[in-house]
Amino acid sequence: QCSTIDGAPLRKSLHTVDFDPVAAVKGEYRHFMEKEIHEQARAITDTLRGRVDFETGDVLLNNLPVNHGKARTFRRVVITACGTALHAGIVGKYMIESLARIPVDVDYGSEFRYRDPFLDEHTLVVTVSQSGETVDTLAALDEARSKGCLTIGIVNAVGSQASRVCDGVVYMHAGPEIGVASTKAYTASLVDLYLLALYLGKARGTIGPERMRGLVADLSRLPDLAGQVLGDGVDYERLASRFSGCESSLYLGRGINYPTALEGALKLKEISYIHAEGYPAGEMKHGPIALIDNSMPVVAIALKDHAYDKMLSNIEQVKARGGMVIAIATEGDAKIADKADEVIAVPWASSLLNPVISVIPLQRLAYHVAVQRGRNVDQPRNLAKSVTVE
Ligand code: M6R
Repeated sequence: QCSTIDGAPLRKSLHTVDFDPVAAVKGEYRHFMEKEIHEQARAITDTLRGRVDFETGDVLLNNLPVNHGKARTFRRVVITACGTALHAGIVGKYMIESLARIPVDVDYGSEFRYRDPFLDEHTLVVTVSQSGETVDTLAALDEARSKGCLTIGIVNAVGSQASRVCDGVVYMHAGPEIGVASTKAYTASLVDLYLLALYLGKARGTIGPERMRGLVADLSRLPDLAGQVLGDGVDYERLASRFSGCESSLYLGRGINYPTALEGALKLKEISYIHAEGYPAGEMKHGPIALIDNSMPVVAIALKDHAYDKMLSNIEQVKARGGMVIAIATEGDAKIADKADEVIAVPWASSLLNPVISVIPLQRLAYHVAVQRGRNVDQPRNLAKSVTVE
């Protein structure tokens, strides 16, 4: 049985999605992608609406088919998705492991069903999908259901196939996403994954009431922080010109910022057609360091968290080899300006919510690089918004 967290009845027709024609107009923006990037503060607000009681610290996912008793039976969570949604799932792994203390594996939807995955009734399977129609993700869900797992979908398109076949749905409320490059659905799904992690943590007794209030207070600041980043006055056109003439780029991050590196690289490659590789920064010395020269920009997500010093040393290693570094850094960090060639400052959200904020400059950077190269930003070559064939 499907349920929504809002308790709204699900429509049953195949392949229909709610579509707001007003939201599907570009308005003042040149491209849907640009508009959707700028809708993120609003999308985060909508995703939070009605889900959190900021006074008591309660997360209201009451229609999920997971009561406290059921939540305690899970021994493992598997998150399966494709592309940008998979990157959200990797961030979700950090959130759920940290807050609910359950081991989480993340698997490509396109690989999942071909390797007889180890699943049982103690495994919760979570899928993330903007469209809810990605064939590989749907096949992974079928695999999970056939092995008796409870399934939860984090889905944007209301009434989509994934929303109908999952046991429970947490909608993104990002609104229609037209640009092929996913932006607002990514940040909305991170918010949903954080809510799910809080919900599971509370149910399993791994988060006490005081900590819970702090964790939801962090959430309440997100729309403002996203608004700040979107109005930060950074000259992205100048930064984008750093990529003129380059054929390849490297994105580095550690811990929960590693999936942000993957996502920044995917955004750049799909709309600008520049090769971009996301890498865990500690792995740089095991291969990618051989690529570094002054024609390959390196984007380093170097926030003031527990991995900060390690990221600084990665930046030094790149600089020592003649590389050019663009750092995404925490506001007020004076030290990093001496090390990197360019710094984009972002406000601190929290160690688990920073990915929601720090991905926004990477989306904007990719957008401006693609525009400078004259690419078809909203409909890049060879790509479809929803991949419904294998
Ligand atoms: O609709 P889905 O979230 O299931 O789509 C998954 C991927 O196809 C999608 O995220 C793709 O990687 C985007 N083009 C990324 O911007």
